[in-house]
Amino acid sequence: MKLKFAGCQILLAIIVMGTTHAENPSIVLKTRSFALTFQVGDDGRLYQRPIGGGDSAAKLKRDDEFYPQAGDGYVWEPALEAVHADGNTSTKLVYDSSTQTNETADLELTRIHLHDPAYPFEVVLCFRSHQAEDVIEEWTEIRHQESGGVLLKRMASTSLLLTTNVYLTHFFGDWAKEMMNPITEQITPGTKVLDSKLGVRAEQFQNPSFILSLNGKATETDGQVLAGSLAWSGSFQCAFDDNNHGIRALCGINPFDSVYKLKPDETFTTPIMIWTWSDHGLGEMSRKLHAWARDFGMRDGHKTRSVLLNNWEATGFNFDFDRIVSLFDPAKEIGTELFLLDDGWFGNQYPRVNDHAGLGDWQPNRQRFPDGLAPLAAAAVNRGLRFGIWMEPEMVNPNSELFHNHPDWVICQPKRELELQRNQLVLDLTRPAVQEFEWNTIHDILNVPGITYAKWDCNRYLTQPGSSYLAADSQSELWIEYVQALYALMDKTAKTFPDTELMLCSGGGGRADYGALKYFHEFWPSDNTDPTIRVLMQWDYSYFFPPVALASHVTHWGHRPMHFACTVAMSARFGMDLDLTKLSAQDKAVCAGAISAYKQIREVTALGDLYRLEDPHANFRGALNFVSTDRSRAVAFVFQLNDGENAPVRLQGLDATKRYTIHELNPAPGRAAMQKDGQSFTGEELMRDGILPSCSKALEATVIALDP
Ligand code: GLA
Repeated sequence: MKLKFAGCQILLAIIVMGTTHAENPSIVLKTRSFALTFQVGDDGRLYQRPIGGGDSAAKLKRDDEFYPQAGDGYVWEPALEAVHADGNTSTKLVYDSSTQTNETADLELTRIHLHDPAYPFEVVLCFRSHQAEDVIEEWTEIRHQESGGVLLKRMASTSLLLTTNVYLTHFFGDWAKEMMNPITEQITPGTKVLDSKLGVRAEQFQNPSFILSLNGKATETDGQVLAGSLAWSGSFQCAFDDNNHGIRALCGINPFDSVYKLKPDETFTTPIMIWTWSDHGLGEMSRKLHAWARDFGMRDGHKTRSVLLNNWEATGFNFDFDRIVSLFDPAKEIGTELFLLDDGWFGNQYPRVNDHAGLGDWQPNRQRFPDGLAPLAAAAVNRGLRFGIWMEPEMVNPNSELFHNHPDWVICQPKRELELQRNQLVLDLTRPAVQEFEWNTIHDILNVPGITYAKWDCNRYLTQPGSSYLAADSQSELWIEYVQALYALMDKTAKTFPDTELMLCSGGGGRADYGALKYFHEFWPSDNTDPTIRVLMQWDYSYFFPPVALASHVTHWGHRPMHFACTVAMSARFGMDLDLTKLSAQDKAVCAGAISAYKQIREVTALGDLYRLEDPHANFRGALNFVSTDRSRAVAFVFQLNDGENAPVRLQGLDATKRYTIHELNPAPGRAAMQKDGQSFTGEELMRDGILPSCSKALEATVIALDP
């Protein structure tokens, strides 16, 4: 209930207490076009009316219990499985009370309190509803005052019920193929599980983001869809349990080997599940989720980004002070604004000159940088370039001073041979000394004068999950405590260095999730920068993440035409990873033209709304357009992957009554100009008749500005 008082809004929580048979409470969460209804049953348990239909007055069935608990009658996949201090493996939750509080005009927090009548054990189901964006953040808090620890074996973040006839779109990949293979399938009786057991990253193979389409497959503009994204950078599980008359979507920390002993009075808070609803297909779903992400899911979501030049593809590990400085003048000349020094700048006794040594020894290499990093950063800054740095604080090579001094700091299993991935091991972040070491490392690197950007990498996952710090009976807590300690470190970094932009990277796109992204400005979607592949990947990532969060660099991967590579990268967070000292004059001119064009349009591509027009998975080309929030400007991209008959691209999201002048930016050398370049049309004409792009062959691309 809201009361207006003397010009200010007083927020009052509604407290609904207890139940009687005649007046069992119901709790409704409402956003602009979505509603979620809970109903307390005669048995005191909490039930949910399935999303997507069904009779709202239908008799409540045990199968429809919300947040179902194992061991006391519920026979399908449970949301909660706990072993009480006395060994009882069952839990029964009944409704206690609920509160709904307006945090702002757009945000409502609902807290539903449940408890077990036989134990001092309580669960609070929490939902933060974002009115305008149709987004609901959902999580669970668990607490008890039993005589000893309670073992939490499963503690889902969500357990939403849907009707049947639901299609699931999920993504499968691998290194350099992340998020590349969308699979859409009808959920059928049985349990479909998407999960990862990688510990320190969520993604590589499966992805913690997915789409549910109700009543058939959705398109970009039609269909009821619910996007789900679990904000957790560790092992996750999403299970879609179809019992033939309803489907339950359970997502949370992977129950695999992750038993957590909850002490009396400690509160366990699950990761947040982010749900986004649309009645009008996938396009609207993404725009709502992007709007949420700019405000709550990432840092500085309403700011444009500097054009970046990275040296990784140009030099690999092979560089010194002079070589890096030699890249600065050409970087400035073609218009880049920020230089990112990648891996290979540190380590003395074990120099980091390849990936076999040095991780963990974060002192600048004295041969390469005799006076440390500050003079290098200054050399960039003096030329008008910002300076950024690569780091991988969670890792160690056995060939390092750190490992020699602290062999017990790594995650490994006793009596097993150490298993290396990329010649490295993960430091055990549950150990306070490691937390301190990693914080000092990050602090000392980011504190170097002139550093205003950093890439935080994580190049392996867990395969031998043992901690010599955690007690023998707490080993399974490693999976959870690692991620919690990681978030504490990321949070401290973001707070201590509020003006330093951060890129999230994990051997490519292993950390593309909203758990970590809230501390970062962008993430690295994949080491695969072949633009023909990036067209597909960026399309798929954009279902969930705004393009300003997707780092996209021009490289020589795939040996594609420079104009095509630049145009693809310009449609996301634009950067380059090229040896500018070796680039042909023509390619350099194409890059300079692309950068200059990008600077004209970045207000629209970084901050505007995205409309996906032609799906590159299904067509010979991909096409998208961005529209500024006031709809006065727009930008269209066409990426042609194969030969095919040229046809107009029909735009979306324009103001039908406004006039826009169309102009091709940075046209490809030697290609005929776009027909009708420089002419103006109404939004209605451009959405109905489209624009015939100048590209007509495989590996041609175009970017078209639409201005008042
Ligand atoms: C990972 C990243 C690359 C690069 C290397 C450096 O593979 O994804 O972009 O930073 O590490 O070792």
